[in-house]
Amino acid sequence: MIVEHEVAPLRETILMRRSRGESVAFVPTMGNLHAGHLDLVRVAGERGDSVVVSIYVNPLQFGENEDLDSYPRTLEADSAALGDLDVDIIFLPDDRTMYPAGLEEQTKVMVPELSETLCGRFRPGHFVGVTTVVNRLFNIVQPDIAVFGKKDYQQLTIIRRMVRDLAMPVGVVGVDTIREADGLAMSSRNRYLTPKQRAVAPGLHKTLREARDALRRNETDTVGVEAQGYRKLSDLGFSPDYFSVRRQSDLAAPGPEDESLVILAAARLGQARLIDNVEVELGRRKEAMN
Ligand code: PAJ
Repeated sequence: MIVEHEVAPLRETILMRRSRGESVAFVPTMGNLHAGHLDLVRVAGERGDSVVVSIYVNPLQFGENEDLDSYPRTLEADSAALGDLDVDIIFLPDDRTMYPAGLEEQTKVMVPELSETLCGRFRPGHFVGVTTVVNRLFNIVQPDIAVFGKKDYQQLTIIRRMVRDLAMPVGVVGVDTIREADGLAMSSRNRYLTPKQRAVAPGLHKTLREARDALRRNETDTVGVEAQGYRKLSDLGFSPDYFSVRRQSDLAAPGPEDESLVILAAARLGQARLIDNVEVELGRRKEAMN
């Protein structure tokens, strides 16, 4: 496993792989790796000959009152975890390498509309920070494919859109969410939960599953499902930001014809802001009705 900190030597190392005819699969992360991240690395290993993982806590995607300073940095444990896997190269840039001109002067990449809905409403500027850093990382690594988690469903959708709109020659692969045994989606931010809050936290996924079942049973319309989910989360002790039923493809509000839906929620619990989602395919319901 090779560790690179700078752009030029990283590119040289990757070029060597390419000249041997190897394809490159890339997994961008902010570190503090858990089983969810490691599953992306596993998928990258299946899809590409050479796996590159980046670890960079990107200041551009954190709001002023967010957890940039307290975000867990666990480089030693992360390197050990990656060492056990089939990882070829770790890229560990610092702020100077990622933003040589500084954050203010940096050219930004923005996906309109998609970046302003859902989490974008509650985290202004967040997704511009994400698309900007991912764009720069893609240009540095030049991967054939890049692997992202469905845990951050809106992020994945926005990145797919950026790649399409800017004709970037990168295949984007989405991977299912890895969960704790009780359903809580694994996240670096789960460590902000007190034991009491940790016991409440699986309620987020449970509420999403119940909403999915209600949609499948055609019990109520999407607006009713949203209101019910929001209320349930509040009753459980969350402070919900949103509970929304959207179309999978573009996260627009679904019409009666749409069958591939996703229910997304964000809710605060103490210091932690948790997000989760479940996909819903309504095709079978329609078949059953015919
Ligand atoms: P980070 O939160 O470290 O996540 C890195 C990748 O791991 C993302 O694609 C995310 O969706 C995925 N991931 C996180 N938890 C997961 C889980 N429980 N199961 C499966 N995949 C999971 O997302 C970011 O970093 C940043 O925004 C980044 C894309 C690196 C840009 O800075």
